[in-house]
Amino acid sequence: VAPPTLYERVGGDAFFEALTRRFYADVRRDPVLAPLYPADEADFEAARFHLQQFLVQFWGGPATYNEERGHPRLRMRHAPFVIGRPERDAWVRHMLDAVAASGAGAMERAQLVTYFESAATHMINAAGA
Ligand code: HEM
Repeated sequence: VAPPTLYERVGGDAFFEALTRRFYADVRRDPVLAPLYPADEADFEAARFHLQQFLVQFWGGPATYNEERGHPRLRMRHAPFVIGRPERDAWVRHMLDAVAASGAGAMERAQLVTYFESAATHMINAAGA
């Protein structure tokens, strides 16, 4: 029997929904990040849902993201946005706050933090950042 995935250990879809809701509520109030995201409520919610589905898939849950959005190619999808060190740091700060506030266990929180820090650094695409 395969060991449980992180997706299963944290409680499945509900965990990633709550995590992304908390994260996006902070993003919306952040002066550095908010301008990058859609102002329209429905588009903003769609962006949040895509992140939720991506994370569900990444951590071992259903691969609905790929079915609906295709291969993630995250660096390519972020190319339209100027992401330098300030954007990366703000993104990570809000996501780490959301992880800290989540009900995940210490081991799962540590895995999530390590992943988000490195994935966000990989998304930097602005020279001199
Ligand atoms: C989409 C910003 C890092 C995953 C987006 C969007 C923006 C954005 C502006 C588009 C929202 C929209 O118009 O729909 C940023 C910034 C980052 C960052 C400033 C700072 C480093 C990350 C990281 C991940 C991620 C680290 C994954 C762990 C996604 C996903 C989408 C997305 C899955 C939706 C892609 C789709 O359309 O299917 N991001 N992002 N982002 N981002 Fe990020």
